[in-house]
Amino acid sequence: MEHKKMKSFPADFLWGSASAAYQIEGAWDQDGKGPSVWDVYTKEPGTTYKGTNGDVAVDHYNRYKEDVALMAEMGLKAYRFSIAWSRILPEGRGKVNEAGLKFYDRLIDELLKHDIEPVVTVYHWDVPQALMDAYGAWESRQIIEDFNHYCSILFERYGDRVKHWVTLNEQNIFVGLGYRSGVHPPGVKDLKRMYQANHIANVANAKVIQSFRKLVPDGKVGPSFAYSPAYPYNSDPSNVIAAENAEEMNSHWWMDIYAWGKYPQAIWNYLEDHGLAPTIEDGDMELLASAKPDFMGLNYYQTATYEYNPLDGIGEAKMNTTGKKGSSSDTGVPGLFKTIKNPFLGTTDWDWTIDPKGLRVALRRIANRYQLPILITENGLGAFDTLEDGDVVNDDYRIDFLESHLDEIQGAISDGVDVLGYCTWSFTDLLSWLNGYQKRYGFVYVNRDEDGPKDLRRIKKKSFYWYQDVIKANGLVDRN
Ligand code: BG6
Repeated sequence: MEHKKMKSFPADFLWGSASAAYQIEGAWDQDGKGPSVWDVYTKEPGTTYKGTNGDVAVDHYNRYKEDVALMAEMGLKAYRFSIAWSRILPEGRGKVNEAGLKFYDRLIDELLKHDIEPVVTVYHWDVPQALMDAYGAWESRQIIEDFNHYCSILFERYGDRVKHWVTLNEQNIFVGLGYRSGVHPPGVKDLKRMYQANHIANVANAKVIQSFRKLVPDGKVGPSFAYSPAYPYNSDPSNVIAAENAEEMNSHWWMDIYAWGKYPQAIWNYLEDHGLAPTIEDGDMELLASAKPDFMGLNYYQTATYEYNPLDGIGEAKMNTTGKKGSSSDTGVPGLFKTIKNPFLGTTDWDWTIDPKGLRVALRRIANRYQLPILITENGLGAFDTLEDGDVVNDDYRIDFLESHLDEIQGAISDGVDVLGYCTWSFTDLLSWLNGYQKRYGFVYVNRDEDGPKDLRRIKKKSFYWYQDVIKANGLVDRN
């Protein structure tokens, strides 16, 4: 839709940026923290790029004041971060670690002191290892109670100061990479187990939303979903159906549950036919239907384009975790869909498509289908940055990326979509799970690499000053 005049960003728009505990905190065993699955998994040979892990990460745990001071200097209105479950409950349940709770008290207070709205994610993939050892974490229904207990502690402790909460971060990614491709913990390749763990996570998510309503009645809560809108390769109806299949299997499978408490029918039938449908217990569907979120959290990075894939067609892909362009391969589900390169779109060095208009497509589709406000909880460019003499990082490519996405957000707002805010990924550079430290996302360069933490010096990139101007203007600024 073309508009003669675009609407402005709302006056209370949350101009934000985001991070996750394991990717920034470090201090992996400091002050009583227990190990998470990532603390263990990254130490297994061959799991991550050059064996990198988050033991030190960017040491945010010990440098949070410096980081918040930079956020304040930038003028950030919101900061989304996650809480490490095993800092609060080192064993995942049982004894509470007061020192862990105090860390997030200090962080939240520091943010509020600078008028930065904390947006707290309760789960960004770092389930306590103790729960993995005890009962296989998300594979057991025991986690429903344990997760609810953990989240209730957070709601009671921080609910007076934190009004925006995210429950599960990218459930589709942590179950998909954990149990389908087996590249995230627990490193399993078993679709039956994946769909079962996913159903249990859905129930746990719903239960926590119910608790939230009681404990933080004036707060807002929602999941963050990694949505890559599906495009058909062309107007060949076989490819259009392939894209429909992908949209339903890769996205509606989660978002329909969050918004409506229902699994989409065609994929449910497909899973039943293949012996993969999850076991549903009495009361599950009622609980799912009763726990409506206040917003859909959207993590948007790219779109995917699909074509017909026959029954003997291709399956799992090879991922690019090195930054060597073109080293990934197409992926598919035989009989449903396969990916194909979109001839209209360029890619990053990690082979992610660059598609700002796809963000507008995502916003429009979510708004139309679910009639929920949307909080963009992640969007950003993973790129190699060069630290130049005099501590300068000229990341014009990141500015171009973010600017073009913001332009489409404004387009979506003008179309009528209720967008609550925009959290870029990420504020500082951080550990990119499987890709080490060379895939950088931040406005703030952190002087470390795969070989070691160096001095962890913080350096403002050119994009830092650009976003500062955008926030000040409450919208896009003329760069010329
Ligand atoms: C999202 C995650 O999947 O994308 C983040 O929520 C992650 O934690 C980000 O870092 C970018 O992915 P990657 O693999 O490039 O780090």
